[in-house]
Amino acid sequence: MTYIRANVNIALLKYWGKQNVELNLPYQTSISATSDVFYTDTKVEIVDSLTEDEVFLDGQKLSGIPYIRVVQHLNTLRKHFKQKAFVRVRSFNTVYIKAGFASSASAFAALTAAYTVAINKRVSKIELSRLARIGSGSAARSLHGGFVIWHKGVSHESSFAEQLPVSWPNFRMIFTLIETSEKKVSSRVGMQICVEKSPSFNNFVREGGHHVELMIDALLRNDLHAVGEIAEQNAELMYNVMLEAGLEYQTEATRKLIEKVKDIRKRKEIPVYYTFDAGPNLILLTEAEYVEDITKLLEGVRLEVSKVGGPFSVVKR
Ligand code: PMV
Repeated sequence: MTYIRANVNIALLKYWGKQNVELNLPYQTSISATSDVFYTDTKVEIVDSLTEDEVFLDGQKLSGIPYIRVVQHLNTLRKHFKQKAFVRVRSFNTVYIKAGFASSASAFAALTAAYTVAINKRVSKIELSRLARIGSGSAARSLHGGFVIWHKGVSHESSFAEQLPVSWPNFRMIFTLIETSEKKVSSRVGMQICVEKSPSFNNFVREGGHHVELMIDALLRNDLHAVGEIAEQNAELMYNVMLEAGLEYQTEATRKLIEKVKDIRKRKEIPVYYTFDAGPNLILLTEAEYVEDITKLLEGVRLEVSKVGGPFSVVKR
């Protein structure tokens, strides 16, 4: 059967907080790298006999809040494309759901693209990114391959993601799997708590704004040092905002690993940097030639090495 595959993306500059909840307009312009190891495969079929949407994730029928989120997004898509029919959705995920590896990004990107295939509409990647954004903000970036910018925008039209003209074949992300359990507070809820409660939220937004041009410039030069430093600063600002709001997504193991990464950088002079999302696992940023050494130095930690992945695609499974 034919599925639509969308890859996970990892934000080098984070989105964390919505200015407009209904349209999912963020406070920040964010920048990400698309991964090639974690993805979601989704097929959407129009089934006229259905009286409600049916959603299967890894073969299991979905219910409760995850089901409602999918149906809400299908309602958005139906309204946009002036459709009525209910659908059957089959999805397979290689991402550890809610462990902080942006599973909703690949999931809503794949769902959006697969829906347009089911109703036979040809839609540009940029337009798909606008629609996916409504399902889950970070999904806007997962339609594209390479390095991607999501312009925060001020309206539905102006808030979209596109690929940056960056070529960096040696760039690597190393996913560290410290914990694969579900997070306690979803990103969706957590980020709005931060908007309301964190005293330094505005500072995080302001600094993030300064980071955008610096990050683009560093990516264009393939300057790992600059990319890594800015990504770390940006992630730590987000983490601080989370802590101020009483949200702790990390564990002792996370902070220990961060110290270890800094130590490898300093003492072994290996260029390796880190970022994280709303979860305990780090994503390390480096280049191909250093991966073997880093892997040896992190013996005992479960790792997945990722190159820069492509845009959504059609696959058979
Ligand atoms: O798109 P959401 O609601 O899963 O939020 C994603 C938030 C972060 O992963 C923490 C940052 C980002 O930009 O991906």
